[in-house]
Amino acid sequence: MVQGEADVNAMTSEPQSILLTGGAGFIGSHIAIEVARGGHRPVLYDNLCNSKSSVIDRLAGIIGRPVAFVRGDIRDGDLIRKVLREHRIACVIHLAGLKAVGESVQKPLEYWDNNVVGTLRMLEAMNDCGVHSLVFSSSATVYGEPRQLPITESHPLSATSPYGQTKLAIEHMLRDLSVSDPRWHICLLRYFNPVGAHESGLIGEDPNGIPNNLMPFVLRVAAGQFKELGVWGGDYPTPDGTGVRDYIHVVDLAAGHVAAMRKLDTMRCEAINLGTGRGSSVLEVVKAFEKVNGVKVPFTIRDRRPGDVTSCYADPSVALHRLGWKTQRSLEDMCRDAWRWQQSPAARGN
Ligand code: NAD
Ligand code: WQD
Repeated sequence: MVQGEADVNAMTSEPQSILLTGGAGFIGSHIAIEVARGGHRPVLYDNLCNSKSSVIDRLAGIIGRPVAFVRGDIRDGDLIRKVLREHRIACVIHLAGLKAVGESVQKPLEYWDNNVVGTLRMLEAMNDCGVHSLVFSSSATVYGEPRQLPITESHPLSATSPYGQTKLAIEHMLRDLSVSDPRWHICLLRYFNPVGAHESGLIGEDPNGIPNNLMPFVLRVAAGQFKELGVWGGDYPTPDGTGVRDYIHVVDLAAGHVAAMRKLDTMRCEAINLGTGRGSSVLEVVKAFEKVNGVKVPFTIRDRRPGDVTSCYADPSVALHRLGWKTQRSLEDMCRDAWRWQQSPAARGN
């Protein structure tokens, strides 16, 4: 620590500056709004490898004041140190990372370098600057193949892809760190399936190329960019034969981060699920989307996608008890807000 630098760990109700690594991305941009709504100043740090700088102006429009943005990589420890000091950061919400499961199988070293080495460099910088409060974007992927449902935080951990391995490795690194130094306060938020968009329609998920995930693909089919949705498997042991997931509205997810930040003082290193607790099948998503938006989503049942699990949904009771947080928005809200975003000029790169 630099001489004279106090530990800036404790969250108070005073306005504080919160660093959002990966803040220009899908989830980070929604968290920026909730951080501002909670009375704090979001500072976005992103290398824009999977996002666009135009989101910053749109965020400023929603929040009603300029938003601090630094273009940088989490592997650049010196730049992070500079930002932590100049902005007097009290807490880091660490979202920056690569997240495509299939790509991680093709490019494992890129994923280990970006996600794990990047997190290591960032933690060193935080330590040097006396910032010890961290909320980390983990994932339900750390549970591997579900052994019992709903999934609680004590479910055994495993990974089925290099992407999942990086999340698991980072969780282990953070646990080791918290054991080594009681000044650290860390929350590992394990997200289930974030979808939807801010109700303004100004920000949302904007994947490059052909989307891998269900909701972005449904949106492109509804918009006429693809003829039909391929439903990956119709013979799972679920009520309608299609895979079941816990879809969570991204604005609810974002609010969970502010709730976690408020309780960080009471945590050493704690894992918490962020989900609704309700599983929806692929066909339920398609039907809900068609109903609330009045558009057709043609689909064909195809073979199962390798690596997919049958069902995955959260037990979100720890989030309720520890954070006082639960989801407010329905599957219909997720479909309506996602479609509003898809139809906005911003979603078409304008
Ligand atoms: P996203 O790709 O939209 O956002 C990630 C952001 O991080 C992007 O803006 C990207 O440019 C930035 N980034 C990546 N590597 C960086 C680096 N080295 N330095 C600086 N910036 C970098 O993804 P998202 O959906 O918003 O996900 C955010 C986090 O949540 C990720 O860590 C992801 O693994 C995790 N997560 C996402 C999901 C999901 O389904 N979207 C589920 C569980 C966990
Ligand atoms: C949902 C359901 C598919 C596309 C992935 C990652 C996970 C997490 C979130 C980050 C499944 C079906 C999908 C399509 C379909 N990310 N589907 N046709 O696989 O639960 O999770 O994203 O941590 O790690 O693995 O989400 O949206 O890809 O799939 O039928 O074109 O939709 O088979 O049942 P998944 P998904």
